[in-house]
Amino acid sequence: MNRVEFINVTKKYKLLNTSGIKELLFNPIKIVKEYRENQFMALERVSFEIKDGDVVGIVGRNGAGKSTMLGLMAGVLFPTEGKIEVNGKIAPLLELGAGFHPDLSGRENIVLNGILLGMSRKEMLSNIDSIIEFSELKEFIEQPIRIYSSGMLSRLGFSIAVHTNPDILLIDEVLSVGDRSFQKRSEDKIYEFKKMRKTIIFVSHDFELVKKLCSKMIIVENHKILYNGGIEDGEKMYNEII
Ligand SMILES: Nc1ncnc2c1ncn2[C@@H]1O[C@H](COP(=O)(O)OP(=O)(O)OP(=O)(O)O)[C@@H](O)[C@H]1O
Ligand SMILES: [Mg+2]
Repeated sequence: MNRVEFINVTKKYKLLNTSGIKELLFNPIKIVKEYRENQFMALERVSFEIKDGDVVGIVGRNGAGKSTMLGLMAGVLFPTEGKIEVNGKIAPLLELGAGFHPDLSGRENIVLNGILLGMSRKEMLSNIDSIIEFSELKEFIEQPIRIYSSGMLSRLGFSIAVHTNPDILLIDEVLSVGDRSFQKRSEDKIYEFKKMRKTIIFVSHDFELVKKLCSKMIIVENHKILYNGGIEDGEKMYNEII
């Protein structure tokens, strides 16, 4: 059974702007203090469980901690405290830059990620054309991805992710950065996954879309879970705070 569970998860980011190595020699206490104070709390003692076949919308203000949650699920980030349990094959989160190489072309990045994700050569060859077609990157697929726009990068990441046959699909805002035609096809793809009873975790600021796609909702506010439950009550709560 696919599932994701966070048990008292805290994530602090380290902000590195200390006074440098010389200071460490002459004033170690100050440096240690600075280091502690320079940690930024992105998630604070967060607990929840997402069960097999759940389609969960994660909503909340900019900077609330939503992408951090997805990064932790995908294993791209590690918790400072607490425990994360994931059962099931999770879609890669390439938007965060993990697994993408800026100097390689779109096509080469697809191959690279295929290898990193443990796809066989045969799977790879049968997938690459559908990934490229789905991404609609056309001739840009041969260009290094450092010249891609953020929408183009998201399209490439999403196209790879949905073609890796995940049990748990993570989606962070792809639908809002893509253009109309890409949005439409991405939505269709998500419905396809929903029909297959896959677990979907969907971060978005598009509340109408969350209502349309999801059966459950998590509201993140100030780095904590404010609400975890059904869509209807979630909507009331959301309207009250945002
Ligand atoms: N690498 C990082 N280093 C330091 N702080 C970070 C880092 N990544 C995120 N943060 C901080 O952690 C907090 C949560 O960020 P996160 O990206 O999870 O928010 P979000 O809910 O996805 O926001 P948005 O809706 O804008 O995408 C923010 O205050 C952000 O500034
Ligand atoms: Mg985000």
